[in-house]
Amino acid sequence: MAAKVKKAYFCKNCGFEAPKWLGRCPSCGEWNTFAEEVISKESSSVAASIANVPTSRPQRVSEIERSDNRRIDLGNSEVNRVLGGGMVPGSLILIGGEPGIGKSTLSLQIALTTNGLRCLYVSGEESAEQIKLRASRIGIGNEECIVYTETLLENIVAQIEELQPDFVVIDSIQTIYTDLIDSSAGSVSQIRECAATLLKYAKSSGTSIIIIGHITKDGTIAGPKILEHIVDVVLQFEGDGNNVYRILRGIKNRFGATFEIGVFEMLDNGLRAVENPSEILLSHYDEPLSGIAVGASADGIRPYLIEVQSLVSNAAYGTPQRNATGYDARRMNMLLAILEKRLGMKMFQKDVFLNFAGGFKVADTGLDLAVVAAVISSYYDRPINEGICCTGELGLSGEIRPAPRTEQRISEAARLGFRRIVVSGYISKSLKAPKGIEIIRINNISQLPKALFTEE
Ligand code: TYD
Ligand code: MG
Repeated sequence: MAAKVKKAYFCKNCGFEAPKWLGRCPSCGEWNTFAEEVISKESSSVAASIANVPTSRPQRVSEIERSDNRRIDLGNSEVNRVLGGGMVPGSLILIGGEPGIGKSTLSLQIALTTNGLRCLYVSGEESAEQIKLRASRIGIGNEECIVYTETLLENIVAQIEELQPDFVVIDSIQTIYTDLIDSSAGSVSQIRECAATLLKYAKSSGTSIIIIGHITKDGTIAGPKILEHIVDVVLQFEGDGNNVYRILRGIKNRFGATFEIGVFEMLDNGLRAVENPSEILLSHYDEPLSGIAVGASADGIRPYLIEVQSLVSNAAYGTPQRNATGYDARRMNMLLAILEKRLGMKMFQKDVFLNFAGGFKVADTGLDLAVVAAVISSYYDRPINEGICCTGELGLSGEIRPAPRTEQRISEAARLGFRRIVVSGYISKSLKAPKGIEIIRINNISQLPKALFTEE
């Protein structure tokens, strides 16, 4: 007797399962994301397949034996940093990003540069020749890197068992499928089932697995969102396609801090780790220009300086244009409203454009002061004095609040030769300025123009 075909509807954005088609997903609120998928009886739920990983028993916290926090050095300083000091054996890592951003390049590079580690690079997207071509560009440093072009999960797991690699790369999760489920590769149920099987395998064997997942801007391809709950670490690889700089950002990390970033430059021979981001994020001009400010920022443990550019011009039409690249537009609007209210600047008549050096995306509120400094400079068409940078958060009443890790930011500014830094007056009084830099403390936004434009 033929088995009854079981069908369900899945939200392609978040993976929500429903027995019938829905116009709007009750879980994530997206419209028109439901698609029908055939699921057979074997596709027991992910929860069930995770549940039978290793047999465990309830025990006291104090009795739990701690494994010696071993970390695998991936031979890449930036990737190690984002992972919190290397890869934990048996971890499942997801690298998400838009197509063409460089996920395959990054993971192949990791596989090729970790000396002495055996890596199995599974590709369902490219042929072995294409990978060889890419590998020769990057440079083959690790003879133990094995390339396997396969899409069937059962075959992949069999090879992992046979070869016993130290870590595995799956490029990409959208191309692999398991025979247990009838729906096509890349569907929600396939992705969930494949990831759950890989998780089970990683945990029981201690082999780390790096999974690559594509995300598209409109979120039409199922993937990373659904996987985020399953994996241990989620890294996002981002950047502006027109720019050579890329950021690897920790979104979730069960073994370390999440706000760490890694910076790379895409060259002809692969990705170069940028250990000192300030160098690429600051430009040098022959003459002072208006609308440019430098902010001292910090992501994770590393401070860096970044240039903010702004253009404020008269609005030709009723509604002024507000355009921010790499910055939250709502935050920008809030900062502009504060300028309007507290400094009496007529922002409602102005178009405002905002940009960050290197196509960087920033979310650090410590850059508020630099953003408003750039806007003020462009508004009055007056260049900010040379050698000044800012760090601080802006409150709705115009008060300046200290940015987290202000001390490290000041040190980085001093190291790069800045002579003055504008900070919140509320930082610890005992904070001493490093050699060569003067700390200017301000409590309110109204004191900012004086700090920026008064000659030394
Ligand atoms: P790729 O890793 O294929 O992207 P993804 O896997 O995220 O889809 O990288 C694609 C881009 O990287 C491609 O446009 C070419 C560029 N690239 C370089 O600039 N230098 C290199 O050494 C390599 C291998 C790729
Ligand atoms: Mg790729």
